[in-house]
Amino acid sequence: MRLSVKRAVVLLLTLFVTCKLTTLYQVLTCPGKVPRPHVVSILVRNLNQTQYRYNQNTPMVFVGGVPRSGTTLMRAMLDAHPDIRCGEETRVIPRILSLRQGWGRQTEERWALEDEGVSQEMLDAATRAFLLEVIARHGEPAPLLCNKDPFTLKSAVYLSHIFPNSKFLLMLRDGRASVHSMISRRVTIAGFNLSSYKDCLTKWSNAIEVMLSQCMAVGRSRCMTVRYEDLVLQPRATMQRVLHFLNSPWHEGVLHHEEAIGQPGGVSLSRTERSTDQVIKPVNLEALARWVGHIPADVQQNMESIAPMLRRLGYNPNANPPDYGQPDPEVINNTQRVLRGDFKTPTSLKRWAQVSPKSVSKGGRN
Ligand SMILES: *[C@@H]1O[C@H](CO)[C@@H](O)[C@H](O)[C@H]1NC(C)=O
Ligand SMILES: *[C@@H]1O[C@H](CO)[C@@H](O)[C@H](O)[C@H]1NC(C)=O
Ligand SMILES: *[C@@H]1O[C@H](CO)[C@@H](O)[C@H](O)[C@H]1NC(C)=O
Repeated sequence: MRLSVKRAVVLLLTLFVTCKLTTLYQVLTCPGKVPRPHVVSILVRNLNQTQYRYNQNTPMVFVGGVPRSGTTLMRAMLDAHPDIRCGEETRVIPRILSLRQGWGRQTEERWALEDEGVSQEMLDAATRAFLLEVIARHGEPAPLLCNKDPFTLKSAVYLSHIFPNSKFLLMLRDGRASVHSMISRRVTIAGFNLSSYKDCLTKWSNAIEVMLSQCMAVGRSRCMTVRYEDLVLQPRATMQRVLHFLNSPWHEGVLHHEEAIGQPGGVSLSRTERSTDQVIKPVNLEALARWVGHIPADVQQNMESIAPMLRRLGYNPNANPPDYGQPDPEVINNTQRVLRGDFKTPTSLKRWAQVSPKSVSKGGRN
């Protein structure tokens, strides 16, 4: 009698423990059963069939700035890092962000949408899924995904909310150099009148002011500003700071991005992007002060009031050019090789003869 009671108790206990363990096992192995609303997960395989899974909580980096401020150079240097993939501009991402912003403003449009059952949360989830899909799939997968569409930095605060572990690199450059570059290379940017230095400098100042305030609102732990001049003059020290900020290990390859062009896991370039003929060269000093002597005298005299952000960013508006700093010896060596003509654009990367300038670097909004 006593024996069978003991047996029954042991049996019950065993059953109980087995049951508990099974439940625990299910919870651990089937996370799908725990309701997690709005998590879109994307699976991408590389050429070796290694799987990468991305979702809204995956760390990501957004590179931006006013066009012609070294955003392509920055992304090419990051692309040369084996753990990071930025890839070409997507051009659709700034447009989606611009649309999404329109639906969020306190306007009749927003009230109408809510009336129709389209909530802000739903739009956020849809935007997030769209962005993730494009960012994850438009290039080879990598442990750290990066996106470079210059104008995304105008939406840094919004992006920091929908991707809570994202970081931002805001490129800063002397606006006179950026504007000279867009005018001399005829790089169409929505809202910029390429026939007028004055108009472009004003628009540059307004755009960088918005981006800088977004970057500051996101905060130093997630948004870092990088000067194009520092990147070009002291690439090693600058990229050390950038990789440290991104929690990525140092990799010597970032200083030789030109050697990684077209390599698997390296730098992929597009024929439509306006900087392609420049980033095929190693980091060099060619473009630093090319603007000097090209700005009309009346614009130069009123530089301080036309582009107030110059002084705020530390570029003396009355110096032509200001002192940008001392170059590293390796950069001087690179520049000598570039001036010798050691780097030519391969035919496969030459621009299509008939490409319309309208098709590039758009996505700006005011
Ligand atoms: C793919 O595998 C090859 C051979 O194992 C290796 O050399 C290469 O680095 C791998 N590529 C990637 C992108 O992992
Ligand atoms: C652009 O600037 C030029 C020179 O100032 C001016 O003549 C032209 O009307 C401007 N175009 C537009 C669309 O504002
Ligand atoms: C310049 O760079 C090239 C290629 O990296 C290297 O072979 C050469 O030794 C360098 N020259 C000097 C003077 O540092």
